[in-house]
Amino acid sequence: MAKVLALSFGRKMSNTDVMLKEVLRKCQEGGHEVRFMRPDEMDIKPCTGCTACVVGILSGRNNGQCIHKDDFHLIEDAFYDADAVLIGSPVYETSPTGTFKTLCDRMGPSHDLAFLTEARKERMEQGKSGDQLPDERAFKPRVGAILAVGGARTENWTIFTVPVMYELFMSTGVQVIDTHTYYGAMNVEHVLGVPEEMERMDQMAKNVMDALDAIEKKDDKEIGRWRGESEGACPVCHQSVFRVHPKSNLVECAICGINGQVRLISGMPEYVFPEEEIARSRMLYAGKLEHRNEIANGAMTQKKVENLAELKKPYLHIGE
Ligand SMILES: Cc1cc2nc3c(=O)[nH]c(=O)nc-3n(C[C@H](O)[C@H](O)[C@H](O)COP(=O)(O)O)c2cc1C
Repeated sequence: MAKVLALSFGRKMSNTDVMLKEVLRKCQEGGHEVRFMRPDEMDIKPCTGCTACVVGILSGRNNGQCIHKDDFHLIEDAFYDADAVLIGSPVYETSPTGTFKTLCDRMGPSHDLAFLTEARKERMEQGKSGDQLPDERAFKPRVGAILAVGGARTENWTIFTVPVMYELFMSTGVQVIDTHTYYGAMNVEHVLGVPEEMERMDQMAKNVMDALDAIEKKDDKEIGRWRGESEGACPVCHQSVFRVHPKSNLVECAICGINGQVRLISGMPEYVFPEEEIARSRMLYAGKLEHRNEIANGAMTQKKVENLAELKKPYLHIGE
């Protein structure tokens, strides 16, 4: 029996809540233990930007503990306990909700798989053990699925939601196996009146349970296999949201940060990503490590600004 956690950022018992609960219901029927949490009803303080968590991990002072004392640890514990994590958010202004982003910032560097893996290695070399090492549960294979719910009649106004929701999974190393956007939610009073959307959630449950089977069998190739509805143009995240370089045919996946080329063949686009780019996607370990090293080296070699306090003085009271 595996553990499935759902985090809903929607209104209580509205579309997002019930769609995620449908996935949980099916997983429960499949013999799995399920848990449902609503971060909006918890005390999750915004990140202050102090970077104590990053410095804590990199310096070995601690394992990336946050300065805030709030309910975050409840989500962290449930997240680490889970083998599959479902996240669902309404679309607010084309993106997920503010609470969702707040949680991402809190999970960010302090729960980044590369930061934690390197920290564990260093601490073990120093002979440390037990509580001096990062939480062992951070390293177990974990799969995720993403749900976005938009009220607008077209998909057009939902564009940043699923891509931004990858944020919670990219640092934590969760392998995304399915995503779905339900748009046009305002056309019907409640998703319980839209059978095809509820059926899509049953399919999401099947996909999650299939991936959980692969975790049980330790079948590494099968665990993270994409089970979503469309292949997408990016071969790693299977989404199709790119930064387009205006003066070349290069495109950069907004989620993975990898570069490829777009070519037109008989008027149809073909996206080609070299193997070395695919390997450095931030959804994969090598991409996370590249970022971890860039931050670690940057912190060591940061250029100091002379007389900074003096230089700041003219700005101190502007606009007050
Ligand atoms: C502040 C706000 C902004 C919204 N912006 C969008 C939007 O950009 N695109 C969209 O499709 N729906 C938008 N909506 C509609 C919600 O996505 C929609 O009501 C959704 O069903 C809410 O999910 P819930 O029923 O699970 O709470 C917005 C709603 C609110 C309250």
